[in-house]
Amino acid sequence: MLVARTLADLRAACADLRRPAQALALVPTMGALHQGHRALVRAATASGAAPVASIFVNPLQFAANEDLTRYPRDEAGDLATLRAEGCALAWLPDLATMYPDGEATTITVAGPARHWEGAARPGHFRGVATVCAKLFGQVRPDQAYFGEKDWQQLQVIRRMVTDLLLPLRVVGVETVREADGLAMSSRNRFLSPQQRTQAPMLAAALRDVAERLAAGEAAPALLAEARAVLQRLDFAVDYFALVDGETLSPVNSAIPGARLIAAAGLGTVRLLDNIAAGQAAAYPRKIVDPA
Ligand code: PAF
Repeated sequence: MLVARTLADLRAACADLRRPAQALALVPTMGALHQGHRALVRAATASGAAPVASIFVNPLQFAANEDLTRYPRDEAGDLATLRAEGCALAWLPDLATMYPDGEATTITVAGPARHWEGAARPGHFRGVATVCAKLFGQVRPDQAYFGEKDWQQLQVIRRMVTDLLLPLRVVGVETVREADGLAMSSRNRFLSPQQRTQAPMLAAALRDVAERLAAGEAAPALLAEARAVLQRLDFAVDYFALVDGETLSPVNSAIPGARLIAAAGLGTVRLLDNIAAGQAAAYPRKIVDPA
């Protein structure tokens, strides 16, 4: 696997990979790689393109109250993971490369970025969109892979790529889950053993509501019930909502393409998850309501 740390090295490596007319598939990451990232690299590889992964912990997407220094970092482990997955090139830019002196340009996406994570974490999607636009400009991939776990992020990137007429395809990859249904995330390592046993209830609640929507129950009552159950289970529920899967606008029923999205805190860990509305999922449904 090639490893590039400067733009000059990146350009040379991308040119080498493209020489046999091979397409490039980018997997943008912030490191601390887990099975979810592995699935992104595998999907990129399966496309037949040369898989390129970037590792950059992007300060611009962290709000002032979020601890950037606490974000897990494991460069050696991450490079070993990428190598094991057959990644062709790892791109590890430094801060000065990504945010040159005097930088004065950021990208603000409205539409799907307005609600939910956009409201809870002001500036977050500006940071995500800006860094992804830079990564796309640097690597010039033919396609880029993002996990469906961050459903809103995926829609924000899609909107940006469409609006800026960027010549790449954005591919969403299904969420990878632990055996008990918890969506994999770099932040799960911060859960205490007790919180770790509670955490899968978020996925279970989503699945429960998805199935009951499919069975014809009314959305508003189901959503209110799920929020109440999770609160009784010590989740600080930020939102548990039914939305249009593309625009992220709230909807009242499981229209085609609708998505159930949720964010809830357990201690200091913010858990995000989502599921297609009105569709059963292949992970355990075991919600234990203490009421
Ligand atoms: O999902 C992430 O890890 C980050 O938001 C991304 C897309 C790599 C941008 O920094």
